[in-house]
Amino acid sequence: MPELKVPSTNLTFGGRAAVVTGGASGIGASVVALLREAGVETLCVDRRAEAAGTAGETYVEVDLTDECAVRDRLAGRLDHVSYLVNCAGIFEETGFDGVSRERWGRLLDVNLLAPYQLMEIARPGLAVNRPAAIVNVASLEAHMVLALASPDPTPHYSASKSALLALTRSAARAMAPDGIRVNSVCPGFIGTPMASALHGDLGDLPAALKARVPATRFGRPEEVAHAVVFLLSDQAGFITGSDLLVDGGLHLT
Ligand code: NAI
Repeated sequence: MPELKVPSTNLTFGGRAAVVTGGASGIGASVVALLREAGVETLCVDRRAEAAGTAGETYVEVDLTDECAVRDRLAGRLDHVSYLVNCAGIFEETGFDGVSRERWGRLLDVNLLAPYQLMEIARPGLAVNRPAAIVNVASLEAHMVLALASPDPTPHYSASKSALLALTRSAARAMAPDGIRVNSVCPGFIGTPMASALHGDLGDLPAALKARVPATRFGRPEEVAHAVVFLLSDQAGFITGSDLLVDGGLHLT
């Protein structure tokens, strides 16, 4: 009799190592924790100095907007990497008018140009360490106008995240011949330091937001991290150029 296969829903990872930007906080930190739990050697890249002291070889402290420093600090660190997660990002609530070029430039630098640079630097290593995959963390703002604290929308953040979705699709097309999959995740309101800077207490959604989120609560960082990690896994082997919403149904309202 042939041996019965035991059905399993566990994720598997054919690749050995990963790099996660923004891994010192919030969603990125949850991704780092999940990957390490799954046995994937994970390098955290972040500008925060305080996390560096405790994490040794598994942490690179760098400002992702400093192109030369990024190339310098990551030189030789990506040769055996199969997975890249671009999670670092910044947000600021400005309203639509009067956002200076300097503000536009700073935000696009972190949210869009840094992911492009990281994908470009990582690509040669990913191509030889297959199965290989990239996930870019965008935002529901890429799909709809949220205008959270005030009804006056913030232009540069949503533009940066919409552009990140377009970049994800073009990267997926460009890297498919190398066997590298590229996908994105769009979180809704997630209870992280970024959200608490904006909304204060994360225990409960403010009433105005609750009315817009069918799940009636903040998402947890690990709920986004599980989606990211799934898209990296062998089980997502036929998914590329896709975007996954993790928003408690916010896009429905
Ligand atoms: P967070 O503020 O907790 O973590 C962001 C991390 O990125 C921090 O550790 C920060 O040091 C790092 N970072 C920022 N700029 C950097 C730079 N120039 N160089 C190196 N590291 C840098 O934020 P959170 O909430 O975990 O956000 C993660 C991603 O999820 C971001 O891209 C954000 O735009 C996106 N997102 C978050 C949502 C939320 O409600 N928290 C909603 C939608 C999207």
